[in-house]
Amino acid sequence: MTDSLNIHIINHPLVRHKLSLMREKDCSTYKFRTLTKELGRLMAYEASRDFQIERFAMQGWCGEITGEQIKGKTVTLVPILRAGLGMLDGVLDLLPTAKISVVGLQRDEQTLEPVPFFEKFVNDIDKRPALILDPMLATGGSMVATIDMLKKHGCTNIKALVLVAAPEGVRCVNVAHPDVKIYTAALDSHLNEDGYIIPGLGDAGDKIFGTP
Ligand code: URA
Repeated sequence: MTDSLNIHIINHPLVRHKLSLMREKDCSTYKFRTLTKELGRLMAYEASRDFQIERFAMQGWCGEITGEQIKGKTVTLVPILRAGLGMLDGVLDLLPTAKISVVGLQRDEQTLEPVPFFEKFVNDIDKRPALILDPMLATGGSMVATIDMLKKHGCTNIKALVLVAAPEGVRCVNVAHPDVKIYTAALDSHLNEDGYIIPGLGDAGDKIFGTP
C-alpha cells in the first residue's frame, strides 16, 4: 500500500534514465559516483523549486531595475555519512553558497537504534532551511534520527533528498516527522530480510567509495 505515503517522486526522463544506469549489476565505481552526483544536482533543482524569492532594487545597464533573489538565510546541506557525501558535490553545483552540516550515525548492537557518532552543525541552523542528503531511504531509522537532531537544534524547515526509497522508510519518516517532505528518484518495492531495498542499488556507500 503506497498511496497513503507522503513523498515527492521526481518523475523526469533524465532522472529515470540515470537511475536505471545505476541499477546495472556491473556499474563501475566511477560511473556510480558520477551518476550519484548528477542525480544530486537534478534533485536539488526540484527541491529548491519552492524557495521564496524577494525583490530588490539594482542597477542594470540601462538604469535602476528590480532584481530577484532567494530570501532568507542560506540553506544548509546535511549529508549523512558516508553515502550522503556522494550527493554533496552535485547539490553544491546548484547551491554553491550552501553551508554544510554533517551527521554520522552507527547502529547500537543492543537496541539496533542509530546512535550519532559525529555531528557538526553550522551556525544559525534554526534560521536556515536544511536539505538532508542520503542516497538510500531504507528503514528510515537514520533519517528520523537526523531530523530529530536538526529539530533539537531548532531547525524547522527540513527536506530529505534520497535517490531510492522503500515504502517502509517513507512510512517511518512520515509518521515521526509528517512536516518533512521527502524527494526521491524512485519508490521501490520493499526491504529484504537484510535491510536492502529491492530492487534498489545494493550498498550505495560501497559503490560510491569503491569499498568491498
Ligand atoms: N543502504 C544501502 O546502501 N542500500 C540499501 O539497499 C539499504 C541501505
